[in-house]
Amino acid sequence: MKRVVLIMTGLIVLLFTSACGNMSPFDNDGQIPSDHMDPSEEDNDFSGHGMGMTGHDHDMPLQSSTGENELNIPPMLESDKETEDEVYYTIDAQQGQTEIFDGIQTKTLGYNSSFLGPVVKLKKDQTAHIKLKNSLEEETTFHWHGLIIDGEADGGPHTVIEPGEEKEITFNVQQDRATLWFHPHPEGKTAKQVFGGLAGLLYIEDGLKDTYEYGENDFPIIIQDRTFNDQKQLDYEAVKDPDGTMGETLLINGTLNPRLTVDKEKVRLRLLNGSNMRNYTIKLSNNQSFKQIASDGGLLNESVELKEIQLTPSERAEIVVDFSKFETEENDVELVMDDGNDETVLLPFQINEKDNNGDNKMEPRENPVTINDQVMNKQVSKEITLKGMGRHVTINGKKFDKDRIDLTQKQGETEVWEVYNEPDMMGGMIHPFHIHGTQFKVISINGEKPPKNLQGYKDTLSLDPGDKAKIAVKFKEKGTYMYHCHILEHEDNGMMGQIKVE
Ligand code: C2O
Ligand code: CU
Ligand code: CU
Repeated sequence: MKRVVLIMTGLIVLLFTSACGNMSPFDNDGQIPSDHMDPSEEDNDFSGHGMGMTGHDHDMPLQSSTGENELNIPPMLESDKETEDEVYYTIDAQQGQTEIFDGIQTKTLGYNSSFLGPVVKLKKDQTAHIKLKNSLEEETTFHWHGLIIDGEADGGPHTVIEPGEEKEITFNVQQDRATLWFHPHPEGKTAKQVFGGLAGLLYIEDGLKDTYEYGENDFPIIIQDRTFNDQKQLDYEAVKDPDGTMGETLLINGTLNPRLTVDKEKVRLRLLNGSNMRNYTIKLSNNQSFKQIASDGGLLNESVELKEIQLTPSERAEIVVDFSKFETEENDVELVMDDGNDETVLLPFQINEKDNNGDNKMEPRENPVTINDQVMNKQVSKEITLKGMGRHVTINGKKFDKDRIDLTQKQGETEVWEVYNEPDMMGGMIHPFHIHGTQFKVISINGEKPPKNLQGYKDTLSLDPGDKAKIAVKFKEKGTYMYHCHILEHEDNGMMGQIKVE
């Protein structure tokens, strides 16, 4: 699964052009309006990668977890009030200090805590009232990634909450059970705020029976990579990379060197790639298979047996690992990242003697995800092209403009979008394509039926260079929504457009 393609000729041309100063070949293609370039920033994307000149080939190694610390399990957010039909929550974006490294306080950001956030639980058919508070020193927004919600409440760059201010949003929960998440989305500052620690999980529940128990055999796994400076602080400006910031330090749920203790039973892991740009190919160190039961938008029609799974930024997968199959003595099962040549330990498991004899289950989804012939045969009505790297990224040849609506679509109508990751002269890179306010279905990737685990609801689709995918998109609510690359620095650099749904 080598996904980064490098075209040597392009590389050579680039070596020459970038050797002559700032003559980037991308400046001359007439696609990037120069008034959208930030003149205050140096235009040296290529030299930023040093003499490696591998361009898109980010290869900052990630340190393996030593398993020293038991994984932090974020608390479930307590409601301010809850009835059968309604729930009230308060979510406060704040800054604080967190002991990530023994005896050292790191300045971090979090929701209702100093770092990351609680799990916010919503039930299908409930009306949710969420009070949003900004206790930061800068503007922020609260975006509900994967949630079907009207454009006003979706928390895109238009709905800024100033420092010290608050605002309440109200919406109906109308989707089936799923693992979603929330994070800030202020224009040009998303990457920095997420990097600082603003990210939390949003669990949607519905009537389906689920015998897994949170914190017992159902665990959130928020995977992030960070670089800390010598004082063990997060200095985003010092480490940011216009092509996506990677870190050498792994944090899961904010825990450094995490390990997870489990019983001999089926355990559900709700994986979220919460990193700014790093992609993870995740597997078990003993090469055993596991089952994927849900994708971004909820349960798959049926579980899919896998030996590895790739997650690009913002993608989620719920997987079930059956620890009853593993020997206790074989206490070295780990979740690892396979980066082609090497394996990085993400999460070592400690398997308890205790055999729960339990057979944890989830009821299968009620309404299977299908694409009917009428949609299958629809013409493509929207074409999206993702292109470029670093600060030169574009979407349909343009950069984000808050005051420009790029596309329109009718509420409740399904359209077929064709999304293309156009390779550039250096080959290109993976762009995870995300749409707000909807869960879409993948019709095809390069003309072929998608693999089983991409046949459920998705809100982010990873596209390799050259990939062209058709997706069926329907918005149930109205408003203005963003669609963008979920490499957060690409989003901040303008690889984002707006669709108005009426
Ligand atoms: Cu995770 Cu614009 O979103
Ligand atoms: Cu989103
Ligand atoms: Cu991108």
